[in-house]
Amino acid sequence: MNGLEQYLKACQTRIDSYLEQQLGNPSAKLERLYAAMRYSVTGGGKRIRPILTYASCEAFGVGDTPVDVAAAAVELIHAYSLIHDDLPAMDDDDLRRGRPTCHRAFDEATAILAGDALQALAFEWISQASSWQAETRLRMTSLLARAAGPQGMVGGQAIDLGAVGGLLDQDSLQDMHQRKTGALIRASVQLGALASERADAGQLAALEQYADCIGLAFQVQDDILDVEADTSVLGKQQGADLARGKPTYPSMLGLDGAHRLADSLCEQAIAALQPFGNDAQRLRQMARYIVQRPF
Ligand code: IPE
Ligand code: IPE
Ligand code: MG
Ligand code: MG
Ligand code: MG
Repeated sequence: MNGLEQYLKACQTRIDSYLEQQLGNPSAKLERLYAAMRYSVTGGGKRIRPILTYASCEAFGVGDTPVDVAAAAVELIHAYSLIHDDLPAMDDDDLRRGRPTCHRAFDEATAILAGDALQALAFEWISQASSWQAETRLRMTSLLARAAGPQGMVGGQAIDLGAVGGLLDQDSLQDMHQRKTGALIRASVQLGALASERADAGQLAALEQYADCIGLAFQVQDDILDVEADTSVLGKQQGADLARGKPTYPSMLGLDGAHRLADSLCEQAIAALQPFGNDAQRLRQMARYIVQRPF
C-alpha cells in the first residue's frame, strides 16, 4: 500500500474540515437538528466515498478545491443512509463508529429529520456549486439522485428489509448489494470524473466498470467483516447480520467463497482502469483497500 495511508489521511483531513466548515448552525432554533447532523457526519467515518471522488477527479489531472463539494455531497447521502439504516424500524443498531447511533444519542424523530436534512443539503450544495457549468451540475444532481433513490440505495434497502429471514439466490443478493451500496460508490467515482469536466464517454464507461466492481466488493467485504472483525475494531456490533437473519455473501458462499469473490472483483476493477495508465494509481490502491480494510 505504497503511500496509501498518507493519502487516506490527507483526504480524510480535507473532507473533514470542509464538512465541519459547511455544517455550521444557522440559527439557535435549529440547534438540536444541526447537532444531530454534525454528530452523524463528523463521527469518524473512513470517508471512502469522498476519497473515491477525489481519486477519480485526480485520474483526469484535476485535484483542486471545487471537487470538495461533490465529495461532501456524496458523504452527506452516505451519512443520511446510515442514520436511517440504524433506526429501530430498519436494522435497529445501537452502535456506529464506536459511538451510540444517532437515534440513541438524540431521539428517533431527530434522527429521521437529520437524515432527511442531510439528503436535501447534498442536492442543494451540488446544484449551487457555481464553479461548474450548469450542465455539469445538472448531470451530477441527476446521477446522485438516481444512485440515492428507489433505483439505487433506497431500493436496495427496501429489498434488504424484505429479504430478512428469507432466501435469496445469488443473482438477487448481487442485485440487492449493487443497489444498496454499489450505487452510491459508483456515483462517488462518476461525480469525481464529472467534476473534472474533462471526461469523455469512453473514460466514463471504463470508470463505471471499475466502480461497479468495487461497489459490490465493498458490500461483500462489509458482510465478511460482520463475521470476522471484532466489535471494538468495527465500531459497530459484530454478528448483527447473522443475528437478524440477513442474507449475506458469507452466508451464501461461505467465508472463503466471499473472500475469493471480493479478490476477483478487485482484480476486475483494476483491469478496467487500463486506459488511464499511471493517473489512476490512487483508484487502483483504493480497490485493494476496499477488500483489505480491517473495518
Ligand atoms: C458502511 O459504510 C455501510 C455500508 C454501506 C456497508 P462504511 O464502511 O463506508 O462506513 P463509514 O462511513 O466508514 O463508517
Ligand atoms: C447498509 O448496509 C447499506 C446502506 C445503505 C446504509 P448494512 O446494513 O450492512 O450497513 P452496516 O453494516 O449497518 O454499516
Ligand atoms: Mg442495513
Ligand atoms: Mg446496518
Ligand atoms: Mg453491514
